[in-house]
Amino acid sequence: MEAAGRHIALIGFMGAGKTTVGAEVARLCQRPFVDVDAQLEHHHGLTIPELFAERGEVWFRNAESELTRELLDRREPHVLALGGGAVMRPETRAALLSHAFTVLLEIDPDEAWLRVSRTSHRPLAADEEGFRALYGERLPVYLEAADAVVRDVDGVLLAAGGIVVERGALARLDEHVPGDGAVELVADERVLDLHRPALGARLTATHTVPSGEAAKTLAICERLWVELALDRSGTVVALGGGTTTDVAGFVAATFLRGVAWMSVPSTLVGQVDAAIGGKTGIDLVQGKNLVGAFHPPARIVADPDLLATLPARQRAEGMAEVVKTGLLANRELWRLPDLQLVRGCAAFKTAVCLADPTERGRRAILNLGHTFAHALETAGGYREPSHGDAVALGLRAALSLSVRHLGLDPAVLAEIEVLLPVEPARVDAGRAWEALARDKKARGGRVRLVLLEAPGKPAFPVELPDEEIRAALAALVAA
Ligand SMILES: NC(=O)c1ccc[n+]([C@@H]2O[C@H](COP(=O)([O-])OP(=O)(O)OC[C@H]3O[C@@H](n4cnc5c(N)ncnc54)[C@H](O)[C@@H]3O)[C@@H](O)[C@H]2O)c1
Repeated sequence: MEAAGRHIALIGFMGAGKTTVGAEVARLCQRPFVDVDAQLEHHHGLTIPELFAERGEVWFRNAESELTRELLDRREPHVLALGGGAVMRPETRAALLSHAFTVLLEIDPDEAWLRVSRTSHRPLAADEEGFRALYGERLPVYLEAADAVVRDVDGVLLAAGGIVVERGALARLDEHVPGDGAVELVADERVLDLHRPALGARLTATHTVPSGEAAKTLAICERLWVELALDRSGTVVALGGGTTTDVAGFVAATFLRGVAWMSVPSTLVGQVDAAIGGKTGIDLVQGKNLVGAFHPPARIVADPDLLATLPARQRAEGMAEVVKTGLLANRELWRLPDLQLVRGCAAFKTAVCLADPTERGRRAILNLGHTFAHALETAGGYREPSHGDAVALGLRAALSLSVRHLGLDPAVLAEIEVLLPVEPARVDAGRAWEALARDKKARGGRVRLVLLEAPGKPAFPVELPDEEIRAALAALVAA
């Protein structure tokens, strides 16, 4: 993740919305937010026009530069909205380069003028001609200072996570591969039959892996470790669903003690969830995902056009995660066309992972419904229910407990039942409870549930009496 451990600094022309976007990005990543202009006003007890009028532009630029650099020097990663002219100072640009992931919030001059002339009394927006000249003068400097150019909150978060969501990206994949070393492709054999990634002259080898969970084995890792001929400057590119990106990411994490990798998820599960957050791994006979590593991909390229060939069953798997994400984010992401849906889900997961890169706190909210889902999957020996059905059922249990204990509006549960229609699981209720109890034992005797007070307001950890949890689980199982 590009911005893990670094400040996210928003730059751009007046009227671009740096303050509004910055505050929302900070809220989602749970970082402090500082608007440099507002801080200067607060500090000196005068508005920006008053500071300009009373002390002059040179004084203002000095004060702005000093404060910006002081903020960038702070250790705790912040989200900062810089003043429109701040990056004109070389020392500020140098500080950005060493301490921040810098994002240009783009706006065209017509729109900027419309917003600024309507709403504010900015000292440098007195007349339209001067305003446009200033825009022309600053734009090249903004572009030079920016690590990414975006237009909205999702854009900032995706850039901060190194994620590109773009229709048709597979045909230009070589443009996105980081570094300049050799590239080896690890692809799901079925996906490679359907889609051909354009990797250009840097591609030196292609390795296929079986489709589905069969890819996540030690035997496949060993074959890939032996076949790979990359040196440490090379990049592994993984093309496929969550199983392919999990195994290829793990191989990249361990080969030569870690080489760079790029994830190209081809399923809805992959694009909205599995490819994001840096968790890689394989299965053991004792259970899924028991061996792995945190090894974030250098880049993630999600091409929603790949989803056109996805079987309906596989799409439904992904929709369960989309609905979960929408509930956590308080956005009806499931109603959006694929491009916006993938952007919104990937941006939200990135924000949660930026807040908690190694899963020590906030990231637990992504498990909404999953405690119950895992118990059902374990009871069914991972043959049935499918993961998507298990999550759909698990969400029902989590939401019905939320209605009863946290005052969640019952209409939310009713809507989820319509959105994710699913039959009760044909598993043994006793076994499912045993699986949940084993999980509980492993966590110090407590089931720590993620519930929902309202859409956008997850509650974690929630502890409830065993009888309540057991009854909610039993309600998911066919009699
Ligand atoms: N690392 C993480 O954070 C994380 C998060 C969630 C899930 N996961 C893992 O992800 C895996 C599930 O991923 P998945 O649901 O993508 O399954 P998958 O990788 O098994 O893919 C499902 C099926 O779809 C096929 N397929 C893939 N892309 C296709 C396309 N574009 N067109 C047609 N067919 C296509 C595959 O060949 C496969 O048969 C699990 O192993 C799970 O543990 C990991």
